[in-house]
Amino acid sequence: LKSDLDKQDGNLKYILTGEGAGSIFFINESTGKIYVTQKLDREEKPFYTLRAQAINKSTQLPVEPESEFIIKVRDINDHEPQFLNGPYVATIPEMSPEGTSVIQVTATDGDDPSHGNSARLLYSLIQGQPYFSVEPKTGVIRMASQMDRETKDQYLVIIQAKDMVGQPGALSATATVTINLSDINDNPPKFQQRLYYMSISEEAPVGATVGKVFAEDSDIGENAAMDYFIEGDNSDVFDIITNNETQEGIILLKKRVDYENKRRYSIQAKVVNRYIDDRFLQEGPFEDKTIVKINVEDADEPPVFTLENYVMEIVEGSMNGSLVGVVTARDPDSDHSPV
Ligand SMILES: *[C@@H]1O[C@H](CO)[C@@H](O)[C@H](O)[C@H]1NC(C)=O
Ligand SMILES: *[C@@H]1O[C@H](CO)[C@@H](O)[C@H](O)[C@H]1NC(C)=O
Ligand SMILES: *[C@@H]1O[C@H](CO)[C@@H](O)[C@H](O)[C@H]1NC(C)=O
Ligand SMILES: *[C@@H]1O[C@H](CO)[C@@H](O)[C@H](O)[C@H]1NC(C)=O
Ligand SMILES: *[C@@H]1O[C@H](CO)[C@@H](O)[C@H](O)[C@H]1NC(C)=O
Repeated sequence: LKSDLDKQDGNLKYILTGEGAGSIFFINESTGKIYVTQKLDREEKPFYTLRAQAINKSTQLPVEPESEFIIKVRDINDHEPQFLNGPYVATIPEMSPEGTSVIQVTATDGDDPSHGNSARLLYSLIQGQPYFSVEPKTGVIRMASQMDRETKDQYLVIIQAKDMVGQPGALSATATVTINLSDINDNPPKFQQRLYYMSISEEAPVGATVGKVFAEDSDIGENAAMDYFIEGDNSDVFDIITNNETQEGIILLKKRVDYENKRRYSIQAKVVNRYIDDRFLQEGPFEDKTIVKINVEDADEPPVFTLENYVMEIVEGSMNGSLVGVVTARDPDSDHSPV
């Protein structure tokens, strides 16, 4: 403090009152210099309001009106940024285009945002290249390339926030962001085999299981759900149903087969994804086909009568031993075993 009326003759004394006077701040009464007695923390108390007075030592009267002044505590970068909401978890559909926003991370800094750069944060990616990027000022994480869940379904990204806009002397903090890729239907089902061989006994009843076909789909859940069909020839003889639990196609007999009549069948089975994502249709139909060759097995069948019932006539009074009529049966097997 310095009064204009101070003639430097030691006749004035300076007095300090107000917040922290005598404790945090003391004044040399003769020189007017104000000293601080302890470390101050701006984040605890950013300013102090004090009053100054200059007194004439001889008269003990003020030489000018009391005046108020403020001591501001200037900020230094003594707070590091903090991610209060981390660690983060986010989910984004696979194959999302480059630039898609995934999540925003935010760090806070206790230093003075209105003074200097101590609270000005800059975000950067420490781990996660080249798949992700972060906007330096906003902390928005974006996709930096298209990713396939079937290749890798989870990424760990590490973001760093630096104050002082990243300049030397900056303090920093990091946060981890776990990013899950959710499935979309970008894979068609595919039969495990191009050709299946099966056989069925000619004795098998309608509804009997002939065999199973299986198509794989690397998607999950609904995106892997599929339905099987039989196309073209012989779809009147064989049927296929979908086992929703195992995802298998079960081929059933729709009509009885006869070895002596037709020994080999060939059917075409088709599998189609039940729910199709239109975005991927141009990459081809979400279906696959396979051929199933079915052999009919011979069975030792019982002989059968030529007629189901016979009507015969005989003249009354015929002699014991007269011929009444003839019944015939034949063996349906190819080797015509005797009856
Ligand atoms: C005030 O300042 C004067 C001149 O620097 C010095 O001689 C004196 O010891 C100081 N008084 C106190 C109480 O520090
Ligand atoms: C202090 O008071 C004395 C006596 O009234 C006067 O002579 C002197 O000029 C005053 N000093 C100041 C700086 O006002
Ligand atoms: C992310 O994936 C992991 C492992 O696959 C899983 O345990 C977790 O629940 C998923 N989190 C979310 C939010 O989907
Ligand atoms: C499988 O699920 C589909 C759709 O929900 C249904 O139409 C079909 O009948 C189911 N198949 C079987 C064998 O239950
Ligand atoms: C008819 O002939 C057979 C064999 O010649 C004989 O066993 C049977 O007893 C005869 N029946 C009658 C009713 O005469």
